Amino acid sequence: MPVIGVVMQKGGVGKSTTTLSLGTELGRLGLRVLLVDMDAQSNLTQAVGLDPTQITTSVFDLLMDPVRGVESAIQPTAFDVDIIPATLGLARAELVLAGHVGRELLLRRALQLVRERYDFILIDSPPSLGLLTLNTMAAADSLLVPLQAHIFALHAMAHLEETIALIRQLHPSVAIQGILMTMVDRRTSVNQAVEQAARERYGSLVFETTIPFNIKLVEAPAVGQPIGLYAPNSSSAQAYARLALEVCERYGRGKMQTGVAN
Ligand SMILES: Nc1ncnc2c1ncn2[C@@H]1O[C@H](COP(=O)(O)OP(=O)(O)OP(=O)(O)O)[C@@H](O)[C@H]1O
Ligand SMILES: [Mg+2]
Repeated sequence: MPVIGVVMQKGGVGKSTTTLSLGTELGRLGLRVLLVDMDAQSNLTQAVGLDPTQITTSVFDLLMDPVRGVESAIQPTAFDVDIIPATLGLARAELVLAGHVGRELLLRRALQLVRERYDFILIDSPPSLGLLTLNTMAAADSLLVPLQAHIFALHAMAHLEETIALIRQLHPSVAIQGILMTMVDRRTSVNQAVEQAARERYGSLVFETTIPFNIKLVEAPAVGQPIGLYAPNSSSAQAYARLALEVCERYGRGKMQTGVAN
């Protein structure tokens, strides 16, 4: 039951896309998966076909009352995963919780109550380092960091490492478990240079699987479907399916335990 936080302070690097696509692929392998939307933009929530304006109990309620809020916040989806959705109101959490002691630990407390029920819990986080990202990091056993195959992303990586050094003081057990190259276009030399630099610097922390740039990933959330359903034969669907197997290996959820044929 690893809890994986998908974090990166830079916006638009593929956090929500990866949380959804990886989560639903793990679900298709027969694993029990919970997704948590910690971003007031509600991209993940909308991408599983939920309308944030129609949601009565969300991750905001969980933060207000972790023990009682968690059960009612969990909702099933049509895609082999459960979700704790977000609404625009989540943006208020920062203000409402400003004076609250232990406010970074609310998500952690809530997930501790349900983590035994799931094989993987994946948390999508916003691009800023605020209370919601701090909650994500505190709740996670490890972090998955999408690294957009763009030359400036290396600076963002250094920035994130600083953040993680800070978090380690509070939560020594959180680790970067994997760096995922996203939006890769191997035809460009900039992309190749970034991938090479990332592999030289971070070695096996970089997932072997890379996610290609693929327009289907832009279309799929608009119709509220994960990529594995919307375009199962696309390069990106196949990449996320491979990533799911790699994640299983990395977290010791091998073929024997999942019953995955390969
Ligand atoms: N591999 C890809 N190829 C093409 N487009 C992609 C790919 N991955 C994500 N996208 C698109 O890029 C945009 C940003 O992706 P996404 O929303 O996953 O990023 P994010 O890191 O969650 O952003 P934010 O920080 O704003 O929450 C979206 O429109 C998404 O559909
Ligand atoms: Mg996002």
